[in-house]
Amino acid sequence: MPQKTRHFQPEETALAVDVLRTGGLLAFATETVYGLGADARNGAAVAAIYAAKGRPAFNPLIIHVADLESGEKYGVFSDKARQLAYAFWPGPLSLVVPVRGDAGLSSLVTAGLETVAIRVPAHEGAQALLAAFDGPVAAPSANPSGGISPTRAAHVMAGLNGRIDGVLEGGDCAVGLESTILLVNDEVALLRAGGVAVEDIEAVLRGPILRPSDPETPQSPGQLASHYAPNAAVRINATTKQDGEILIGFGAVSGADISLSEMGSVSEAAANLFAVLHRADAMAAIGQTIAISPVPMMGLGLAINDRLERAAGDRS
Ligand code: TXA
Ligand code: MG
Repeated sequence: MPQKTRHFQPEETALAVDVLRTGGLLAFATETVYGLGADARNGAAVAAIYAAKGRPAFNPLIIHVADLESGEKYGVFSDKARQLAYAFWPGPLSLVVPVRGDAGLSSLVTAGLETVAIRVPAHEGAQALLAAFDGPVAAPSANPSGGISPTRAAHVMAGLNGRIDGVLEGGDCAVGLESTILLVNDEVALLRAGGVAVEDIEAVLRGPILRPSDPETPQSPGQLASHYAPNAAVRINATTKQDGEILIGFGAVSGADISLSEMGSVSEAAANLFAVLHRADAMAAIGQTIAISPVPMMGLGLAINDRLERAAGDRS
């Protein structure tokens, strides 16, 4: 974990880009709130976002890119998705679209889902950063878990100083409220109310969109239920491999078919989590159970266990 958090001025954007290139954590301003960014293709860097925030659960993250053309490298845009992008990008709108097969994103970014949330921020500093980095930046709000979203660099420093590599100065956030999130497929559904008004979206689409019963609630049960769960049954805290099981190990485990982290690192296990669950699910024959070795409740182990408990519990 980094000891000193550097405060970059806008003219030092090249140094901030180096932080992202080398797998570090960089807070940066968008017009909504400051984001805590990492290279979305680097699983260890994305896992470090969760460690720095002390987030007890894995949610899929929004990737930030400079323009629609860059976004199309990671997501599949239907005509309707493009229409929304033309109307509101750059700006405080995130679009959830199918993830491309060749996107190369860490599975921790999508939390193993088949969709990805993409945003093109309008803030000048974010635009300069993303254009120079020329890659996808995963970023939740840059505050410790449970804290208030930061709208100036001093807020980021107050919460995360010493836990991240740098913050790129970007002044005060003009919107100060998170982006509106839309799920776009045959229908358009509001997943989170935010910086773009629903009325403006409906005006562009010339019709109503679907709204959750409580649009203020980002953690609606619908969203949680959409998290990836394996098809096979899951048994957690497995200390032995039983007949007909696929065993996912953690640390030195004899008989493991696949491992979250052979060296027993919870950060590495976090980065591998969804990809390993997918692989085990593909390996499991019908009726087989996926057994998973105990993962210690330390650091990212809390979020890993939260996800595994839900995978073991969600049997519908
Ligand atoms: O304004 C914002 O959106 C800020 C700035 C930094 O861009 N970011 C932000 O990120 O608010 P975060 O992580 O706090 O919120 C992301 C939301 C979560 O509620 C997550 O569940 C949802 O986006 N999300 C991300 N990917 C998704 C997906 N594939 N499907 C459904 N929901 C998704
Ligand atoms: Mg947040």
